[in-house]
Amino acid sequence: MHPTERTELLKHISVQWYNKKDESPNKGAPMSNTLLQKHWYDGWFYARFIDAENNPLRDRVLGFIEPGSAAIDLGCGSGGFTLKLAGHCREVVGVDVSGKMIAAARKRLAKSGLGNVSFLHLHAGGLSEALPRRFDYAVLSLMLHETPPAERLQILGEARRAAGRIVILDYQTPQPRSAWGAGVGIVEFLAGREHYRNFRDFVRRGGLPALLQEAGLRIIQEKINRTGVFRLVLAA
Ligand SMILES: C[S@@+](CC[C@H](N)C(=O)[O-])C[C@H]1O[C@@H](n2cnc3c(N)ncnc32)[C@H](O)[C@@H]1O
Repeated sequence: MHPTERTELLKHISVQWYNKKDESPNKGAPMSNTLLQKHWYDGWFYARFIDAENNPLRDRVLGFIEPGSAAIDLGCGSGGFTLKLAGHCREVVGVDVSGKMIAAARKRLAKSGLGNVSFLHLHAGGLSEALPRRFDYAVLSLMLHETPPAERLQILGEARRAAGRIVILDYQTPQPRSAWGAGVGIVEFLAGREHYRNFRDFVRRGGLPALLQEAGLRIIQEKINRTGVFRLVLAA
């Protein structure tokens, strides 16, 4: 990891759950109670079993983004969508707070041979300090529902500073009373206690529409997917 990235991470990250075996750059850093989501499924498991599953939705996200733009993918996970974005955009930067996710994403990038993508191990709440530049789009795919309530507005503020337009894919709220809705509840429960608590809070507070209103963002276009589980929003 580049020394600047490391310094920025130490500045902005604190750990909710810390795995000693992980090569997290915040190893040894003082812990506080604010952030770093680290899950049991981070890294190869997400890359192998979860990342690919979101593909049909990702095609719809691409439809909201002008070809040839510059994009920043906040909470990029193991990079599946970031690499897909790279085929559509002139430049993409993927950012994730989980070291394991970024390691998996960089591994995929090396295999892809793409030259217009980079990955940064960084908390999205510290984006403007770490990467003070502008993009055309900030993308937040399946990220906000898992962040602690106190950080959602901060992250949206950073997305707004970084880009003219914000594309968000996340859960529809309330979730449909169907097998699909029940399935989402189970998946979120299995993701871990902290994750589930944040998901429930996201739903309880009215999800994306309420959050975007609170952040002062205007919805330009939106779609709900066929199963009624996901909402896709273009905002500015
Ligand atoms: C469910 S995954 C989604 C990954 C990818 N965007 C996708 O659509 O498959 C959410 C990701 O957001 C990351 N994340 C959560 N909070 C974050 C934050 N504050 N800054 C950066 N990444 C964050 C997590 O580490 C995780 O990799």
